[in-house]
Amino acid sequence: MTIIKNASLKSFNTFGIEAKAQSYCDITSIDQLTEILRQHHNNPLFVLGGGSNMLLTKDIDALVLHINLKGIEVVTTSEKKVMIKAMAGENWHNFVLWCLEHNFGGIENLSLIPGNIGTAPIQNIGAYGVELKDVFHSCEAINIKDQSKRTFLKSECNFDYRESIFKQDLKGEYVITSVNLELTTNNHQLHTDYGVILNELERKGVINPTIKNISDAVIAIRQSKLPDPKEIGNSGSFFKNPIITAKEFAIIERNFPEVPSYKISEDAIKVPAGWLIEKAGFKGKRFNDYGVHNKQALVLVNYGNATGKEIFELALLIKKTVKRLFSITIETEVNII
Ligand code: EPU
Repeated sequence: MTIIKNASLKSFNTFGIEAKAQSYCDITSIDQLTEILRQHHNNPLFVLGGGSNMLLTKDIDALVLHINLKGIEVVTTSEKKVMIKAMAGENWHNFVLWCLEHNFGGIENLSLIPGNIGTAPIQNIGAYGVELKDVFHSCEAINIKDQSKRTFLKSECNFDYRESIFKQDLKGEYVITSVNLELTTNNHQLHTDYGVILNELERKGVINPTIKNISDAVIAIRQSKLPDPKEIGNSGSFFKNPIITAKEFAIIERNFPEVPSYKISEDAIKVPAGWLIEKAGFKGKRFNDYGVHNKQALVLVNYGNATGKEIFELALLIKKTVKRLFSITIETEVNII
């Protein structure tokens, strides 16, 4: 088990921010993880997955455990369903492609989401009408303090919009080691209700879409709007879409009749934060080496050598401006470290 001192984290976060870890260890087996937790659970620890949902604003004064557990296996199959176990360090999108190759359906709408399997449940990743919770069966995790293993069933994870128990009550208490998903093997239930997906399928002349067609459509849509972290550092949506009351929405609609919205319940309306940020004038704005993406205002970007602090300051300015203009508080989706 090699522990590297003063390690650079630049290549381990999709924002591409330079920050140092006091020490760093690549974890490739559960035994190794258990052992290192046993030795170090009383010292400061930082669990790192795909690094796709965090903004490093400072060096990490802790032992960084990079969860690099690999493996995908079919656990059970039945007439229509299959249960797949994927280890936490598998790249999410590679896993989606593996499922498509095997004609396993359910996560095609989640194509091209950056990050790893193990972090997907933490924020209940979602896109184009599907969330991880729709296919999630359970996950296995190790308790950091006493290294006991625990299986979390879906009902225990308190999934919500970009939320789970791992971000709330159990934050920092467990390391997720693998995830079990229940997927379909035939009669796939397609989610094409998002207008952009229908438009893309139509553009390609697809009439009876397969799960692969849907994945290709999602990939094309995402590539047209979202920057590739390998080219421009980013963490996807920086903010969550705020959910406001009907009364608050009516005030915005009076001034901006074109405001897009999704009704969640009689008194809960989701408004795209990207729209609010664009209206606030930030879309495509660049300051030195950082800014707001020109095709999707919800995405903050690092053009090269920005610091996490600079991006964080920009996020605060955006938040303050949106609050002043619309009286709406937008919350970050990305973890600020
Ligand atoms: N919009 C603007 N200007 C912008 C961006 C968006 O006006 O610059 C408005 C448009 O009206 C558009 C609407 O916002 O129709 C919705 O935009 P989009 O379809 O791009 O989705 P989003 O609400 O901005 C959410 C997720 C994305 C996910 C997409 C598709 C959140 C925080 N983000 O974005 O997830 O891919 O829906 O389902 O819920 C992520 O979490 O990192 C992520 C990319």
